Amino acid sequence: MENILDGKKLAEQMKASLKDKIAKLPYSIRLAVVMVEGNSASQIYVDNKIKACKALGIECNLYTFSATTDENEVANILQNLAEDRKVHGILLQLPLPKHMNKDKLLKLIPAEKDVDGFSGENIGELCLKGLRGNAFIPCTPLGILELLRSNQIEISGKNVVVVGRSNIVGKPMAMLLLTEGATVTICHKLTKNLAQFTRQADILIVAVGKRNLIDADMVKEGVVIVDVGINRMEDGKICGDVHFESVQKKAKAITPVPGGVGPMTIAMLLYNTYQAAKQQEERV
Ligand code: GUN
Repeated sequence: MENILDGKKLAEQMKASLKDKIAKLPYSIRLAVVMVEGNSASQIYVDNKIKACKALGIECNLYTFSATTDENEVANILQNLAEDRKVHGILLQLPLPKHMNKDKLLKLIPAEKDVDGFSGENIGELCLKGLRGNAFIPCTPLGILELLRSNQIEISGKNVVVVGRSNIVGKPMAMLLLTEGATVTICHKLTKNLAQFTRQADILIVAVGKRNLIDADMVKEGVVIVDVGINRMEDGKICGDVHFESVQKKAKAITPVPGGVGPMTIAMLLYNTYQAAKQQEERV
């Protein structure tokens, strides 16, 4: 279909170009992934990230902890990885079990190895400078921006509505688009009359995790839809937050689920890891 924003295809192209660049480096790149068990989806995401690293020639070490592990054990590993000069990127897979202090653990990852772009330093730089700064930008928002830009979708001066205010997607996405000149509205679960906002959107980005949250009646003709949702249906297949079949008919462009945002997130993790290694290895 011609109005599909094909994240899978773009991610493949970006990974192929990164693979060539990595093959030419005189040093090897290493990403450490730290995961605490207890979330079934995390295991799948982490497996996909590791597979993608290996395919590009990035060394990837996985540190898995059981759901009942003491927080200090995870902290110890993060501290060691922070000091290890052979490790260029550190990723602490979220969510963590409730007994762990996520903010405290994330703070143990130095900004220069924070390839997820979650640290205060990276988020601050993103707010101040957007793409023109030196920040690692969170992978999903960065992937969405690349997908829009490579499909020649104009952002400057457009009304963008972001549904979802998470630290991983909604908030950094809104900031990134703001720095690119969009007029941004952020909606969330306390927003009254969501449709009143979504109908104003030239570009609608939905990152909530609720199947069929957005239907055709809630969008205007010619809208660009980016669906970040990953929801599992009764038959085991996954779908997004947007009712694809009906909304696609009104949309100028729309991301599918799967095959839209997900592959771009992984491609950007690889890109951030490559950048982290270059910065650390080529520092004078
Ligand atoms: N959990 C869901 N998405 C992400 C992500 O992009 N990074 C990390 N670390 N955890 C996640």
